[in-house]
Amino acid sequence: MALLGEENNPRAPWFCDGVLINEQWVLTAAHCIIEKVPHVVRLGEHDLSSTHESNHQDYYVKNFVFHPDYDNRQVYHDLALIQLTQRVPITNTIRPVCLPWGRHPLPATGSLLTLTGWGGTYYKGPMSDILQEASLYLLPASKCVAGYSTLHDYAQKYPKGITSDLLCIGDTDGQGQDACQGDSGGPVMHRRNNKYYLSGIVSLGYGCGNPEFPGIYASVHHSPDLAWIKRIAF
Ligand code: ARG
Repeated sequence: MALLGEENNPRAPWFCDGVLINEQWVLTAAHCIIEKVPHVVRLGEHDLSSTHESNHQDYYVKNFVFHPDYDNRQVYHDLALIQLTQRVPITNTIRPVCLPWGRHPLPATGSLLTLTGWGGTYYKGPMSDILQEASLYLLPASKCVAGYSTLHDYAQKYPKGITSDLLCIGDTDGQGQDACQGDSGGPVMHRRNNKYYLSGIVSLGYGCGNPEFPGIYASVHHSPDLAWIKRIAF
């Protein structure tokens, strides 16, 4: 897990999450870094209110690259890569997530996914100091179409509908588990052979935990997007 911090904001520098994908690159959401410039990336953090409970490390940003097809008026390809100035030593608490290279199919609809982040624990709530984890399910895109197509800006923001480069992920048992503000850019993962594979990046929602509006994530299973990650960061 990564936290993105801006410069000149000593009190509340952390504005989005991200995920370490190799020794020098962090994947996040493009919308995170459109208004704020990421200056520092924190790795190995757990509780933001305590300095000594984890051995976190801060890294500086050398460069960042937006997905070439990202257009901030629309929801598609909300991905960006951040290059760190230094290589990150891999430890037990700081290590990259696996990417779904090769013949690694998207988990089936209904599969269990794990979301982690420091975002708010309720809509308009403050960011959480302690990293939170939630269990969510991959839902059919039609579930997101049913909700989001009722919003007045659907035609502008989703001119191609909910395409296969987006994942619709939510709760099926009404517990209201969801991502929320501040979770953007962080990972949703699936577990396979005791390893966590990245499935998507937190992108947007409508409120938080509303059963009619599951979260929408940028998929990393979509092969042109995965190819872009490979081209830039590997
Ligand atoms: N756009 C939000 C952010 O910048 C993430 C929203 C995710 N919301 C949701 N209900 N799934 O942090």
